[in-house]
Amino acid sequence: MEVIIMKDYNAMSKKAAEIIKSVVLRKPNCVLGLATGGTPVGTYKELIKFHKEGKLDFSKVITFNLDEYISLPKTHDQSYFYFMHDNLFNHINVNPENVHVPDGMAEDVETFCKWYEDEIKKAGGVDVQLLGIGSDGHIAFNEPGSSLASRTRMKTLDEQTIKDNARFFKSEAEVPRYAITMGVGTILESKELLLIANGKKKADVCAEFIEGPITSQITASALQLHPKAIVVLDEEAASKLKKYNYYKWVYENKPKK
Ligand code: F6R
Repeated sequence: MEVIIMKDYNAMSKKAAEIIKSVVLRKPNCVLGLATGGTPVGTYKELIKFHKEGKLDFSKVITFNLDEYISLPKTHDQSYFYFMHDNLFNHINVNPENVHVPDGMAEDVETFCKWYEDEIKKAGGVDVQLLGIGSDGHIAFNEPGSSLASRTRMKTLDEQTIKDNARFFKSEAEVPRYAITMGVGTILESKELLLIANGKKKADVCAEFIEGPITSQITASALQLHPKAIVVLDEEAASKLKKYNYYKWVYENKPKK
């Protein structure tokens, strides 16, 4: 696992966007795995900026999102479908036919999940998967106890996740209790993983998944099993790391010529 520590949220977002940009430039028809939540908003802003500056073309890019709440229609402003259009897709030239977000209103969830997995395979697999991390250590909605071999399926959300995500809803009671999520096994099949995290609130869990044992209690620790996993943290999220000498990338302190 390559751990890169950036000064703050903006620098973390820029670094993550640079990594995604390099994949799109190398392979214009690449498959991007995307995440929602507060963390990737800055990364998406940077990608939009690259596109508006004419530096990034998404016309051939295929996308797959990690997860979606069950019971929220696409038009609900807290659905991940809505989030992705609001924060990224509406501002770039991605072909709507190439966009995949799990369907939270699917009548037959099991059949839908199998179809989603098949679509990822048909597209040739995910080239780079962007991930956030929950304060309970989840990646996507793979809550503590999820099998590290799990596939796309329905998952019950943890109490902690419901509390954490209540900030996006009018009240905690409104947070859906179930979601469709890619499994840890699905995520591990991506050619490259890119996990981003920022802020003091994520410091404990980042130390646990990077320096602790691999455990289904912290599903992000499965990144230790992946041959090409990059973790980009801001200094606050990295503040509880203590075991190794990590790479610190400090744009601001680069020697001036
Ligand atoms: C969202 C997702 C979740 C979030 C995680 C962190 O698609 O898969 O795992 O990445 O809950 O959320 P934020 O970024 O809001 O702290």
